[in-house]
Amino acid sequence: MKFGVCYYPEHWPESRWETDARMMREVGLSIVRIAEFAWSRIEPEERRFDWDWLDRAIETLADAGLQIVLGTPTAAPPAWLSLNYPDTLPVDEQGRRRNFGGRRHYCPNSLTFRTHTRRIVTAMAERYGQNPHVIGWQIDNEFGGGRTARCYCHECLGAFRVWLRHRYGALKALNEAWGTVFWSQEYHDWDQIPFPVGAGSSANPSHALDYFRFASDSFVHYQHFQISNLKSAISNQQFLTHNFMGLFFRDLDYFDLAAPLDFVSLDNYPTAGIDRVRGEMYGEEPAPKHYAYDVGDAALTAMELDLARGWKNKPFWIMEQQPGHVNWGTVNPGVRPGTVRLWTWHALAAGAETVMFFRWRAARFAQEQYHAGLLNHDASPNVGFFDLQKMVGERALMAQVTAEPVRAQVAMIFNYDDLWALQLQPHRSGFTYLRLAFTWYRALLALGISVDFRPLGAELSGYQMVLAPGLFLGSADLADKLCEYASTGGTLVLGVRSGFKTPSNLVTDEPLPGVFRDLAGVGVREWHALPTGRGYALESELSGLDGEATVWAEALTPGPSPEGRGEIEVLARYGAGPFAGEAALTVHKLRDGQVVYCGWHPTQRQAEAMIGELATRVGVEGAGQFPAGVLAFRRGRFTVVLNFTEVAQDVQVGEAKGNVPSRGVWVVENGEGHPF
Ligand code: GAL
Ligand code: ZN
Repeated sequence: MKFGVCYYPEHWPESRWETDARMMREVGLSIVRIAEFAWSRIEPEERRFDWDWLDRAIETLADAGLQIVLGTPTAAPPAWLSLNYPDTLPVDEQGRRRNFGGRRHYCPNSLTFRTHTRRIVTAMAERYGQNPHVIGWQIDNEFGGGRTARCYCHECLGAFRVWLRHRYGALKALNEAWGTVFWSQEYHDWDQIPFPVGAGSSANPSHALDYFRFASDSFVHYQHFQISNLKSAISNQQFLTHNFMGLFFRDLDYFDLAAPLDFVSLDNYPTAGIDRVRGEMYGEEPAPKHYAYDVGDAALTAMELDLARGWKNKPFWIMEQQPGHVNWGTVNPGVRPGTVRLWTWHALAAGAETVMFFRWRAARFAQEQYHAGLLNHDASPNVGFFDLQKMVGERALMAQVTAEPVRAQVAMIFNYDDLWALQLQPHRSGFTYLRLAFTWYRALLALGISVDFRPLGAELSGYQMVLAPGLFLGSADLADKLCEYASTGGTLVLGVRSGFKTPSNLVTDEPLPGVFRDLAGVGVREWHALPTGRGYALESELSGLDGEATVWAEALTPGPSPEGRGEIEVLARYGAGPFAGEAALTVHKLRDGQVVYCGWHPTQRQAEAMIGELATRVGVEGAGQFPAGVLAFRRGRFTVVLNFTEVAQDVQVGEAKGNVPSRGVWVVENGEGHPF
């Protein structure tokens, strides 16, 4: 369990470095990330490198006992590069080339940019790849951030066509996979294929989905390019990571991006990202009011953290932890003592093994002047600094907690292709993949049940229950895999719109839920999107499953292929409306396991009733029930209780009782509470 900080020696007079380094050590930091935006200082002119300052910065930090994480500075190409090689600049959907003056102004497919990338990355690797103080590398910075994941330049178009050739082999196959006969879109030459933008109508969704996939692959390949250049010169003791973003970002397949890295790092900003996604994530349900005003939305943060653990299914780092207020939300609330500590414990409880704060000292100039650091602009300590001082005293306990693996009995399948396909054609406004997943996730959180997010191909046999709320694009392979899981004793829960589409984003020609209908044991006779304020009454013996089916409802009937179908139990029915009397929630016994089909977009309360019932049936244990706004995580003999509300809360864990202060943390070990 280590703490670190992001530092920009190039922003401060050199005479200050030693003081900063000493103060970092004194406050318990042991790692510093540097250089990820310092290209213009490292290579001020093409091929002229200035290493002296960076050598001295590393030496000064290392002399104070700090370990270094070096960023490759490719997120911030210098002016000479962008201006002399304008083909490296990305192009937006409207065909406008971006200007120099911000960051992330490069196209991942630009061959010219690859040349410059190779030079800077290799030079850094050669210089510091064997430096014992450099423990690892962060590749680039937040790929895709600031709406830069999808470029529409000439080189991308060529690369897209090559990518399509690989995927489809023949144009005939592409034309079929996209249904281009519609509106005379058929292609007779690969060079006729355009970008899926700018046509004046919405794009063909199959074309657009492939572009999203291609754009994601472009950054995955660009990252590979950096990795292979780094690996030619660095020691195998040095790790490779990249800093991933939170739930507001969904343009890259983070499972793919994570695959070649040693571990994932997350940039954890609980108060800012939520402004962007809260409306979407709660939809018509009221967003909770019980969180303290400066903590963010704990459920959203929790999902981000669990996703971060899921991208590689292992402990991760927080590369940037919000240290106080930020500058990029809508209100950017001031942060009170205790909140940074609460966030840090939350990250640790969810599987972070190192937490780095962003940034050491607030910047006096340029775009992020209003962003807090551990130190204020005048170098006086800020709120995060004081919290850190407190946490240093807790480090031994933190280390014990993080030594216990997070063990989840439940997995949730998370898949970017489904997310993108629904984003392209939600059919009903407010229907998003993340909102659906988040509703089910909040139910788990309320029940205190830990969950691992897993990608489509993952091994599932170790999980007692697998939740798959959004398997929109079905394939026979996937159906077989899930059948294997469920028939050998697993419990699989499917959600609405399952199997509606093929992987190339065409509607299935099979009865719904398409390739999953033998699994589900039921068919979808009819589906309705429902306007806000309208719902179909539900009837169920289970408490909590009453109320109405809103947003989206499907009438479930016994499946179309009775052979091999096991017994079907109906847990909820429609009580009124056009689907009156028809099934809404079914359980299909499938040899040693079962497949549940939830035929509407549940509210959190309904999802809780459904998942709670299933968890009890299959023996999944939660950490218990806690007051609203209090989250609890089990790690081996520890339970970490986090109070995100404005008031102290009475909490009981086993025999231990505690009154956890507002924004306080309570660790219970084997039934004994540690001090708050
Ligand atoms: C991150 C980024 C940092 C800094 C920070 C501010 O997204 O990686 O460089 O901009 O946000 O909160
Ligand atoms: Zn491009």
